[in-house]
Amino acid sequence: MTQQEMIDACLKYTLYSWSATGRVSPLPIERAKGIYLYGPNGQRWMDFNSQLMSVNIGHSHPKVIQAIKDQADTLIYTIPGSATKARAELGKRLAEIVPGNINTFFFTLSGAESNENAIKAVRQYSGRFKILSNYRSYHGATSACLALTGDPRRNHNMGPPGFVQVMGPWPYTYSWGETDEEITRKHLVYLEEIINFEGPDAIAAMFIESITGTNGILPPPKGYLKGLRALLDKYGILLVCDEVMSGWGRTGKLFAFEHGDIVPDIVTMAKGLTSSYIPLGAVGMSDPIAKFFQDNVFRGGLTYNAHALCLGTALAAINVLMEEELIENAAAMGKVMRSEFDRLAAKHPSVKGGRCIGLFGMVDIQINSAGDSIAPFNTDHPAMAAFARRLLENGLFTFIKWGSFMCNPPLCITKEQLLEGFAIIDDALELLDAEFEGGNP
Ligand SMILES: Cc1ncc(COP(=O)(O)O)c(C=O)c1O
Repeated sequence: MTQQEMIDACLKYTLYSWSATGRVSPLPIERAKGIYLYGPNGQRWMDFNSQLMSVNIGHSHPKVIQAIKDQADTLIYTIPGSATKARAELGKRLAEIVPGNINTFFFTLSGAESNENAIKAVRQYSGRFKILSNYRSYHGATSACLALTGDPRRNHNMGPPGFVQVMGPWPYTYSWGETDEEITRKHLVYLEEIINFEGPDAIAAMFIESITGTNGILPPPKGYLKGLRALLDKYGILLVCDEVMSGWGRTGKLFAFEHGDIVPDIVTMAKGLTSSYIPLGAVGMSDPIAKFFQDNVFRGGLTYNAHALCLGTALAAINVLMEEELIENAAAMGKVMRSEFDRLAAKHPSVKGGRCIGLFGMVDIQINSAGDSIAPFNTDHPAMAAFARRLLENGLFTFIKWGSFMCNPPLCITKEQLLEGFAIIDDALELLDAEFEGGNP
């Protein structure tokens, strides 16, 4: 099969997500290794987004591939009601490394399934129905998860009732305040008002991305997570941290909520749990919630709950993450990324600025010196598409979101590779500079 035959068959026989398939131009990928993707015709691209911010340990690690083979040779699948070595070992390992009193895990196959089951768990545990979340959020594409999601992906899905969105902190709207303390205080005052209007006794939980991902890579202001935790505790509202994207070392800590020095009641995860080698998600429950489900039926189930092949893969991927000190590397490389953001902002008028924490990064592109985005909220700009094409031509794949582009390489990236990636970005930015103030910077 030639590269073109492969592309044509994919487009003819399969649907592409979040797209009109007729307008999709898929990247032809044959194999992947470390931080690189390889095409059938010998092309090589640096994977500057870890695919969907998920291949945290890098592609095709031999130890994980061997573990998958060993697990497949031994046991691939059993009913969810069984006990297996992989389940016992992964459950114990997670209880040891996930912070605080989160010691019990329900296994799923994805981020959305994890959030769906967390929704069920908080409603059953609290006896309350409503759920709060942020407008700038994404929590998955199932019906309830899209109702939980605040970004425009929710708009064409008539999800179930009971979900209420609020504005979370955002770095560019200084009307909320000039300092972290002021922004935090005002947001929490506003949130408390909403809680009172919605009725504290009706609210089961608030779901947050501990550090917002696709909606802007937004680390919350200093003190916000602690203040939020205290406010929710005051009303008996549970805190669920969605760490599907920000977890498993991406931000330079195992989980992003550790940056705010808090522990949620529930943490949901997927992606980096297996580094996407095999699908797996999990809902981590704190001891009081887990104890509740010792005596009360947990009303959730999946054919592939605790699938042995997935669990064995997760164990191996976690071992690589820890043994190769990739979380520490993410923290160290995050500093290199930040200085590259500063360098690019000083050189290119189109670069408004970048944010990163660990290797969780994003750069915003401006169209004028007033700082307006080249592609404001929920719009596209042809120059951003041309920029992505130039990156690919020069050997770098990443994600474009409206007027921003993502910088989320695998956590195994070296300083030299990171600088090589930014050199490719540096070159392509001239296409965006050409748009700045109509080409007259
Ligand atoms: C924060 C967050 N939650 C949930 C999800 C949904 O995960 P999945 O696509 O595995 O269902 C995503 C996916 O990108 C995510 O970023």
